[in-house]
Amino acid sequence: MEKRHPKHARKTVSGAGLSLILAVAPGCKIRDQMRREFNTCLFTALALAVSVPLSAKTVLEGAYTELQAARGQAAYSDHCARCHADNMNGGFNRAPSLITSEFMEHWRDDNLEALFIQISQRMPPGGARNRIPESDSVDILTAILQANDYPAGKEELTLESLKNVQLIGKDGPKPLPTNALVAATGCLSAGPNDSWTLTSASEPVRTKTADGASPEEIAVAAAQRPGTQVFRLTNTDTLDRDPAPDKGHKVLVRGALVRQAAANRISVVSLTSVAPGCTP
Ligand code: HEC
Repeated sequence: MEKRHPKHARKTVSGAGLSLILAVAPGCKIRDQMRREFNTCLFTALALAVSVPLSAKTVLEGAYTELQAARGQAAYSDHCARCHADNMNGGFNRAPSLITSEFMEHWRDDNLEALFIQISQRMPPGGARNRIPESDSVDILTAILQANDYPAGKEELTLESLKNVQLIGKDGPKPLPTNALVAATGCLSAGPNDSWTLTSASEPVRTKTADGASPEEIAVAAAQRPGTQVFRLTNTDTLDRDPAPDKGHKVLVRGALVRQAAANRISVVSLTSVAPGCTP
């Protein structure tokens, strides 16, 4: 997967969004602001902000207009249909369908920015000389949403709103599928045969970068409450340093998620210690 500039990987916290999150952080009431627990409260809120988008909007609520999707369909016919077909079911020049559940598995439970990047920076194939204007890419994305039976609404999707709209399946958010590039926080624990395990781990979230963590991400991960998940960590021998000194630490790992009946795994590409102990 192509690396993206870190700025795309961060979520910013606006004043309005923050108070919204404070309201939803478990056990966190606004009046706590006056108390010493405020910091814990704030950090719990920030930790939630990593997985819960600030704007609650999803594609189920109408994230584009009919007019925009019609524009998008016209731009799609010009730039995409020769490979992905008029009905978006793919089939020419090895182009895949854009309307199957397999397609959705690649992009669901993330905001629309990731799919937009795919369209605007990697399609049509052939590099920068083939790029189409960003506004056309946003319109085309809405035509794809419409072809996938997501409803139109009253406001157009814009470059700015892309990252505030969550792409989820028709029956709501679901745990991420195998092969998703994810980030998860948990305790680095020794497993059998010199292996490593992430215990008390959070539900993994999609990540756009394979790099280590920024100071902001470290602060958020350090404050995250222990979760209930366990992941076997594989591929740790390819990291640039031995994880052994971080044993018993709270760590943030990124890597490819592999779901298996016996044990879920993360094939690790980066591992960052975020706190020396495992209690929040
Ligand atoms: C020359 C043929 C061709 C054209 C034109 C083309 N694509 Fe693609 N597209 C492909 C191929 C091949 C792949 C699969 C390999 C890859 O992802 O690069 C793909 C992959 C994709 C994916 C990812 C699919 C998935 O399952 O995750 C999306 C989304 C996409 N294309 C959208 C578009 C859009 C929108 C346009 C028009 C702006 C477009 N493509 C133009 C050939 C094409």
